[in-house]
Amino acid sequence: MGEAVRVLAVLAQHPELELEWDEWNLGADRFLETGVSISDREFQNLADDYDAILLGALGDPRVPGNEHARDILLGLRFRLDLYVNYRPCKVRHPRYSPLRDPAGAAMDVRIFRENTEGSYAGVGGALRQGTPEEVAIQEDVNTYRGVERIIRAAFGYARRHDRRRVTMVDKANAMAASGALWRRVFEEVAADFADIEAQAMYVDAMAMDLVRRPDHHQVVVTSNLFGDILSDLGAVLAGGLGLAASANTHPGRHALFEPVHGSAPDIAGQGTANPMAAILCVALLLDHLGWPWAAGRLEAAVEAALADEVGTPDLGGDAGTVQVGRWIADHLTDDRTLWERQTDE
Ligand SMILES: NC(=O)c1ccc[n+]([C@@H]2O[C@H](COP(=O)([O-])OP(=O)(O)OC[C@H]3O[C@@H](n4cnc5c(N)ncnc54)[C@H](O)[C@@H]3O)[C@@H](O)[C@H]2O)c1
Repeated sequence: MGEAVRVLAVLAQHPELELEWDEWNLGADRFLETGVSISDREFQNLADDYDAILLGALGDPRVPGNEHARDILLGLRFRLDLYVNYRPCKVRHPRYSPLRDPAGAAMDVRIFRENTEGSYAGVGGALRQGTPEEVAIQEDVNTYRGVERIIRAAFGYARRHDRRRVTMVDKANAMAASGALWRRVFEEVAADFADIEAQAMYVDAMAMDLVRRPDHHQVVVTSNLFGDILSDLGAVLAGGLGLAASANTHPGRHALFEPVHGSAPDIAGQGTANPMAAILCVALLLDHLGWPWAAGRLEAAVEAALADEVGTPDLGGDAGTVQVGRWIADHLTDDRTLWERQTDE
């Protein structure tokens, strides 16, 4: 996150980018000292006083129950009703994708994962635990309102970004009740977007398709569980977790940007974590705040680093976290297209 802030500080010098931020420490150290993960006041403060939240990865082995990370992450997601989990999966340089088909280089799928219900709603329970008669029930919650708003968000995005196809992913052949709802709502919403091709697919077929014809899909909309899995597959096909950024939003109200990866405890303290996912979150944030041109220049800077083979060990490189962050910040500082942008454009 330090490298993301370094890049933000460079961009904040641009006369057209009115960027101001506060840094908050919600880390596990504080939780271990005080027992507080995030207070009600802090929640309210985040909800009321900021246009966007840039959140570092959470998760610390000293909190084995993971309640600190869960409180903050799920707390923000549910309390701010961040129903859109947007995960772009774009191959930024073919060298870093495991796909060997040249079509893989053109993969640029935007995944819209429903973020507030589905199998993650926490509805269910167990009985006769620890016995051979144990029963575990985990419900899959799908509401008309929840399904409709995520599908509408995906179509709205496609129209705004000139994408011609939206694919809805479900498992309607085996999960008939939720499948029927998703398919009916998909058709209803698609009717309002007649200029966009609407396609429905089963999740197993989509998993194959992402590998087999990665350039085919443009915008994918799906449930919480399927979106979780497909977006990790997409992230790996695009170059790995070190490059995967995401946005959690309630359009028109709140926005939170975070790398897809966790806190990578296996490499903690070594100075080798890839900062690109966090830096690409800054690009998503700039786009959200209404500066897509600046987001584009930042993405170009990351892509230049990849083309120059400036990367951390996860990408096969030998650079450290700070070295990669500085390279990208310097590239932005030298980017004449960024700085010579006319204010009257
Ligand atoms: N959004 C979040 O904050 C989030 C997401 C996932 C996991 N977690 C938490 O993170 C902790 C670790 O979870 P995990 O190990 O399952 O997932 P992880 O994403 O932290 O790590 C998985 C693997 O990817 C590597 N990796 C991850 N990010 C990397 C980066 N930026 N650069 C280089 N390599 C990177 C790690 O070294 C590890 O080998 C757990 O506490 C988990 O709950 C948090």
